[in-house]
This record gives sequence, C-alpha cells and structure tokens, in this order.
Amino acid sequence: MAVVRPFGLGVQDESLESDIKLGMSAVEQSLLEATKSDTPFITEAAQHLLEAGGKRFRPLVVLLASQFGDPNAPGVVPAGCVVELTHVATLYHDDVMDEADLRRGAPSANARWDNSLAILTGDFLFSRASQIVSGLGPEAVRIQAEAFERLVTGQILETAGAQPGDDPVQHYLEVLGGKTSSLVAAAGHLGALMAGADPWVVEILTQYGERIGLAFQLADDILDITSESSESGKTPGTDLREGVPTLPVLRLREMSPDPAVPGDLRLRELLDTGVESDEDLAEALTLLRAHPALRVAREDTLRYAEEARSLLAPLPECPAKQALERLCDTVALRTM
Ligand code: IPE
Ligand code: IPE
Ligand code: MG
Ligand code: MG
Repeated sequence: MAVVRPFGLGVQDESLESDIKLGMSAVEQSLLEATKSDTPFITEAAQHLLEAGGKRFRPLVVLLASQFGDPNAPGVVPAGCVVELTHVATLYHDDVMDEADLRRGAPSANARWDNSLAILTGDFLFSRASQIVSGLGPEAVRIQAEAFERLVTGQILETAGAQPGDDPVQHYLEVLGGKTSSLVAAAGHLGALMAGADPWVVEILTQYGERIGLAFQLADDILDITSESSESGKTPGTDLREGVPTLPVLRLREMSPDPAVPGDLRLRELLDTGVESDEDLAEALTLLRAHPALRVAREDTLRYAEEARSLLAPLPECPAKQALERLCDTVALRTM
C-alpha cells in the first residue's frame, strides 16, 4: 500500500497550480531517469521507495522558490530531482539506523532486502544526485555538498546523543538543523538560485527553508507519537523504541513529576528504563499522547512555523509567496 500524499498548495491560482503541476511531473520523470541502472536489480532497489510514494516536500520548495525568478530556467527541475534523490538516499540509510521496517507505506529496503543492500542503494542514489548537480555548476555543487555534510553531521550527533554538559533541547535542535533543515534550506536556495532570483531573495528563501525545515522535523517527531501507520506510512513509536528523545519527551523532562497528571510517573518510569517490548511501547505512546508535554511541543512547532512565515515578509506579494506561507500552516497543523 503506497502512501502518496503530496502537500497541496493551499492557494487558488490557476497559473501557479499549473506551473507546479508541470514542474512536479517533470521532476518525477527525471527521478525515474536518474534511478535507472544497466543492472535491472539496482533499478528495482533504487526505485522502490520512489514508487512507494512520499510527499515530495523538498521539490515543492524548489519549485515554489523558483517562482521568484524564471521558473522555466533549465536548472530548476534538475534541482528538484537532486534534493529528492538526496532525501530518498537518506531514507534508505535512516531506516537501517532506526531498524525501521515500514517506509512510505511499503516495506523499507532493509526489511525487503537487507541492510547492505539498503546502504548501497542509498549510496547509489547519492552518486546519481551528485552527477546531476554537477551539471548545475560549482555553486550548486557546493550547496548540495554542504547540505549533505550538515545532514550527516546531524544524524551522527543524534546517534551520539547529548553529551554531559550539553543542554538537551539545544542538542536536539542542533540535530534537527543538521539532519533536516539543511536539505530544505538547500531546496529553497537551489530553487531560487537556478531561477536567477535576486541575491537578497535567494537569501530569504534559504533562511525560510532552514526554518520551515525545523518545524517540519518537529512535526515529524510529534507524528511519530500521535499518528498511525495508515497515515504516516511508518511505524509509530520508532523514536521511543530507538531511545531517541524528541521534543515531547524533552519537554516532559523539563517538567517536575506530577502525580496529578494521569500516568505521569508511570510514563517517566517507562522512558527511564527504555521501551523495548510492544506492550511497553504501546503504553508509553498512549500516556505520551495524553501528556501536557505534547501540547507544549506542538506549540513549539507552531512557533517555528510562524517564524518561517515571517521571514517571507519582505518578498513581493504573489501567489507563490502565499503558497509558501500556507505551507507553514500545512506543516504545523499536521500535528494537531
Ligand atoms: C521523512 O521525510 C524524514 C524527515 C526528515 C522527517 P518526509 O516526511 O518528507 O518523508 P516523505 O518524503 O514524505 O516520505
Ligand atoms: C531522520 O529523522 C531524518 C533524515 C535525515 C532521514 P527520522 O528518523 O525522524 O525520520 P523518519 O521518521 O524515519 O522519517
Ligand atoms: Mg527514522
Ligand atoms: Mg521520524
């Protein structure tokens, strides 16, 4: 069962809608081209997650950012392809790291084949992304390479965990900036740059990507707790099971234990000992869903989405700006 739920534009503008639709189908076409190998089995493995669906959030950011210059410039669609390929490659690797068995409503590559195949397929996708970005010039190569470095650094910092003396929320936000914001920022940057937008506009769209990327990952972390597989295409509670403390848990730990909050003490006990069995995980999820810390994390998410929106203020009024503003709502309201 594929989970294909592209983010809508949320804006009624025929010309923008048709631009984005055409752009997306061109990106889709180039993704298929980019994942073909002379070895049929590699093509199958590389196209496995693409065919399973996904929201195509990063190419959407590329296409919307390109509206601030010439959206038909030749680098725009390849840039959309590069950011999605890079993203999908990280999904292959991330599912190995998280021992996840479900992705985009389909078996993850590590579950369907094995870890080695999943890692190598991720590498294959990275190499194809590199080949495509090399056609976009040295500036684009630098943007993609720096995003890639930040992304990997974020994943490593998450794996290492907060060190003694680190502020846990600061560490968490640093991880998110690396593993997720970096690539969304690159999407805004490349989209605007390839379209030939003014440098100050390119800068704003880069910062917007950085900010909405943070809200996007905060929302993903909340959805790991609150959503069902039928919605997310992933197994809920993966972060809890992996012992990755995300914002709801960090906010809970900032609060004093409170016997008046139903299940508060039991939840802390579960989180402290680690949830491994299916029963403990189900119980922890139920308690966390009802805990006030979840509301605090939602408010934090809304705040970051609002910050992303306010960064757009200096841009000229146009349907693409409205769509980028709406995207902030879409990202944050997913968690409500
Ligand atoms: C999942 O990204 C990994 C995160 C950075 C949260 P998406 O939520 O964009 O996953 P797809 O592309 O829609 O499957
Ligand atoms: C990983 O974060 C984000 C990536 C850089 C791939 P998560 O581990 O929360 O992503 P999901 O929930 O598996 O998609
Ligand atoms: Mg994961
Ligand atoms: Mg997640």
